[in-house]
Amino acid sequence: MRILGIETSCDETGVAVYDSEQGLLGHRLYSQIKLHSEYGGVVPELASRDHVRKLLPLIEDVLTGTDSKDAIDGVAFTSGPGLIGALLVGACVGRSLAMAWNCPAIGVHHMEGHLLAPLLEDNPPEFPFVALLVSGGHTQLVAVKGIGQYEMLGESLDDAAGEAFDKAAKMLDLDYPGGPNLAKLAEQGDVTRFKFPRPMTDRPGLDFSFSGLKTFTLNTVAEHSLASGLPDDQTCADIAAAFQEAVVDTLVIKCRRALQQTGLKRLIIAGGVSANSRLREKLQQALAKIQSEVFYARHEFCTDNGAMIAFAGCQRLLVGQQDDVVIDVKPRWPLQTLSAV
Ligand code: KG4
Ligand code: ZN
Repeated sequence: MRILGIETSCDETGVAVYDSEQGLLGHRLYSQIKLHSEYGGVVPELASRDHVRKLLPLIEDVLTGTDSKDAIDGVAFTSGPGLIGALLVGACVGRSLAMAWNCPAIGVHHMEGHLLAPLLEDNPPEFPFVALLVSGGHTQLVAVKGIGQYEMLGESLDDAAGEAFDKAAKMLDLDYPGGPNLAKLAEQGDVTRFKFPRPMTDRPGLDFSFSGLKTFTLNTVAEHSLASGLPDDQTCADIAAAFQEAVVDTLVIKCRRALQQTGLKRLIIAGGVSANSRLREKLQQALAKIQSEVFYARHEFCTDNGAMIAFAGCQRLLVGQQDDVVIDVKPRWPLQTLSAV
């Protein structure tokens, strides 16, 4: 079964073709980073308009490049959670194409897309496993028995990990999107100079909270600021390193706890923050000590992309699930409400 996948939930237009027999045939991504950078964050209306401009040419390109123009058996598009206008662009185009091609269509949960992205790699993890979903909007620990069988073990009570990265980056005057830029700056920092808190690790449970860490960062920046309004370059790098280390340690502690609590031996990490090298490195070290293994997607499939949507949609379409001929998006959509495959 050959599926066209469309992702437009936020600030990237992603398109891919996935074939259940041959694997991923092609994918393209257009990032709106430049468009939003002067505003320091995503402007929803601009995002929707840019998806309108970019989506059809990208689809055309991927279909031509994969020789799939007359071979699509189903269309999958992100139908939530995300920005409503941005989601509607993908849903309208995806649903309409499926109708024109007389094939089934399915709306995919964006976080299920992220969660399944590591399965696109060679040596994918077998079910069951624990998933750490760390993106710009979500921080969740999920016990995964199979596709659509998700038990929420813990989640952030306030900011998501990626959001905290982005806000800390802003305090250090780094460009949007802050996460990767902060991670880059942290490489030049001395991780031992400042000790930031590891929130909610001193009590049982698997929930997260990153807002206190954000305030701690703000105070440290203010305390060391010069007349320019910012600390000197080395201090900025040291703060970036301390912040990243605190987030990473917090995530590692909770992942280890989730594995111990569930008795599972496999962990997957997914979503934008799973691209963070320090997180991957420290998780690998920590999990080796408890005879467990960590899996993740290649860098380009950690952040938003069409491949994960084509793959997730394909798994559901293969077992006969499909949406009615309506255009329906869900800006809020709890992962636990999905049906099993
Ligand atoms: O999954 P994603 O592309 O979009 C959402 O679904 O939200 O995640 C984007 C988030 C942003 O907050 C971004 O700053 C963060 O992932 N991110 C990173 C890194 N790469 C992306 N955070 C830390 N280190 C990175 N290398
Ligand atoms: Zn995402």
